[in-house]
Amino acid sequence: MQELLLHCRPGFEGEAAAELQELAAAQGVAGYAVTREGTALVRFVCPEEGEAQLLMRRLDFQSLIFVRQWALGSWLDVPAEDRITPIITACAQGPLASTLWLETADTNDGKAMAALTKKLGRPLESVLLKTRFLRPNKADAPRLHICFESGERIFVGWSWANNAAPWPMGIPRLKVPREAPSRSTLKLEEAWHHFIPRDQWDRRLAPGMQAVDLGAAPGGWTWQMVNRHMKVIAVDNGPMNRALMDSGQVEHVEADGYLFKPRAPVQWMVCDIVDKPARSSALLARWISRGWCREAIVNFKLPMKRRYYEVLQCMEHVQEAMDEAGIRGTIACKQLYSDREEVTCHVRVLQAGSYKVQPDH
Ligand SMILES: C[S@@+](CC[C@H](N)C(=O)[O-])C[C@H]1O[C@@H](n2cnc3c(N)ncnc32)[C@H](O)[C@@H]1O
Repeated sequence: MQELLLHCRPGFEGEAAAELQELAAAQGVAGYAVTREGTALVRFVCPEEGEAQLLMRRLDFQSLIFVRQWALGSWLDVPAEDRITPIITACAQGPLASTLWLETADTNDGKAMAALTKKLGRPLESVLLKTRFLRPNKADAPRLHICFESGERIFVGWSWANNAAPWPMGIPRLKVPREAPSRSTLKLEEAWHHFIPRDQWDRRLAPGMQAVDLGAAPGGWTWQMVNRHMKVIAVDNGPMNRALMDSGQVEHVEADGYLFKPRAPVQWMVCDIVDKPARSSALLARWISRGWCREAIVNFKLPMKRRYYEVLQCMEHVQEAMDEAGIRGTIACKQLYSDREEVTCHVRVLQAGSYKVQPDH
C-alpha cells in the first residue's frame, strides 16, 4: 500500500498531520495520519489503492504550511547485511527517477545516521544507474527519496519537482553571510526562496525598490534587502548595525512599528516583531488593505496550542481585509527551516483595491 511520507519540524508532527487530514477530507480522499511526537516525520496512509498518489497530485505542495517535504511510496524492512537488494526490488515497482536523495528525519537520531547514508550513497547510486532505475538526463522524471528511519527501516518514495520542495528533506543549504548582522538574516532569504520563483527575483526584488522593515534591529533582514540594492526604512527603537547604516541605503526610524505609516506606498514591508499572531496579522492586514505595500513578509509567532488553526485564522483575517478593500492577491504561510515556534506569511497584491493612500491614514 502506498502512502505519503511528510517531513516537518520536530514537535510539529500534530500540525502537519492535522493539515493533511483536513486537506484530504476536502478532496474526498480517505486516509489517516500516523505520528510520533518529536520524530519530524508523519505518515499519511490511504487504504484505497491509488488514493495517496491522487492526493499528492491534487494538493499544491507550495500551499502546505507545516510540511517541509513529501514523497509517495512505501516502507521496507532491510537486513543490515544487504540493504541495497531490497531497495532495488522496491524501485522496480515505481517510476524511473532523475535524482537520488538519501534522507533521514531532521532529529538527533536522524543525524546519527549520516555515516550510514554516506557509506551507502555511492554503491546504491551505482547499482541504480546500472539497472537504469536512475536516469540523470531525464529531467522531468521524479526524484527518488530513500529515507532512513533507522538502519533497518527505510521509506522508498518519489516526488515530482513541480510539486515538492527543491531540497532533500525540504532543508535549504543557506549560509549566514559573513557581513550580515544577525542569523535571522536567513529567515528572509529562505522566505524569498520559498515564495518567489528564482526567475522573478530581478523583477520583484529589484535595485532601487523601497522597503520598510518593522522590528529591524540589528538588521539581518534589512541586510538582505540592502544586499539587493533596495532602499530600506528600518523601524525599531533598538540600535541598527553600524556598517549597514554606513551603506547609505538605510533610514533608521526609532518608532513603534505598529504606529508607523509610510509617507508613500512602498514595494515591500517585512516584519519580524515578536508578538501575538493576531497582532501581527492585524498589522499585515492594515498594510495590505490600505495599499501601503505591494508585497509583505511577516512572521507569525505561534502559541503553544492549536497552532495550525491559529495560522488559518490569521490568514483568514488578512484575506477578509483584502476582500473588503477589493484587493486581489495571494496569501501563503510556511514554517521555514529557519523558523522555530513560528511560521512565515507572504502576501502579494496582484490588483490594487479602491483604497486611496493618504499620508494621515
Ligand atoms: C527578532 S528581532 C528582529 C531581528 C531582525 N529581523 C534581524 O534580522 O536582525 C525583533 C525586533 O523587534 C523590535 N520590536 C519589538 N517591538 C517592536 C515595536 N512595537 N516596534 C518596532 N520594533 C519592535 C525589537 O526591538 C527587536 O529588535
